[in-house]
Amino acid sequence: MAKSIGNKTNIAVFISGRGSNLKYLIKNSNYKNSLFRVNLIISNNSNALGLKYAEKSKIKFYVINYNNIENAEIKLLKLLKKFKIELICLAGFMKIISKKFIDKFNKPILNIHPSLLPKYKGLNTHFRAIRNKDKYSGSTVHLVTEKLDSGKIILQKKIKISKLDNVKSLEKKVLKIEHKIYSAAVCKFLSNL
Ligand code: GAR
Repeated sequence: MAKSIGNKTNIAVFISGRGSNLKYLIKNSNYKNSLFRVNLIISNNSNALGLKYAEKSKIKFYVINYNNIENAEIKLLKLLKKFKIELICLAGFMKIISKKFIDKFNKPILNIHPSLLPKYKGLNTHFRAIRNKDKYSGSTVHLVTEKLDSGKIILQKKIKISKLDNVKSLEKKVLKIEHKIYSAAVCKFLSNL
């Protein structure tokens, strides 16, 4: 079902740290013709820098204690229901999403990953791309399944790795494209529902 103006889909964004992708999701959601509205922000970390974007934008946010994953996910499911969330966007959320949670939520969950999946699932993607002397890196937005970084790809964008790049400069380049593709991927996904 294509979404029309004024009929935005409520999304929740889950973060663990810096939150720069959250910042751009909020920014893009504020455009009149955006297909989504960030209605809820979740962090597993009370010190996450990204929470400042939640405060600034006055979007409701909750810090969820992940010491016990089962209890954390029960709390999350209640919040997602309360805020009528139709789609979750993981944006640098560094906790595992259980199969039970995916089944119980029963709505799409997207993730952004800093590599050209299926290459470099998991951590240290920039380090691995540089060590292997790859010519390209990039970012991928994909559906979350119980298998790590393996769900259907919604959008992927490539960038060139230069001989001068190091982990830091590559991370910066990739982040820059992530800020564009995450919102684009959400819109693409919602328009194809
Ligand atoms: C992003 O580069 C995102 O792709 C990555 O964490 C960073 C979060 O940055 N996600 C993962 O590595 C997930 N496996 P941000 O907090 O500034 O949005």
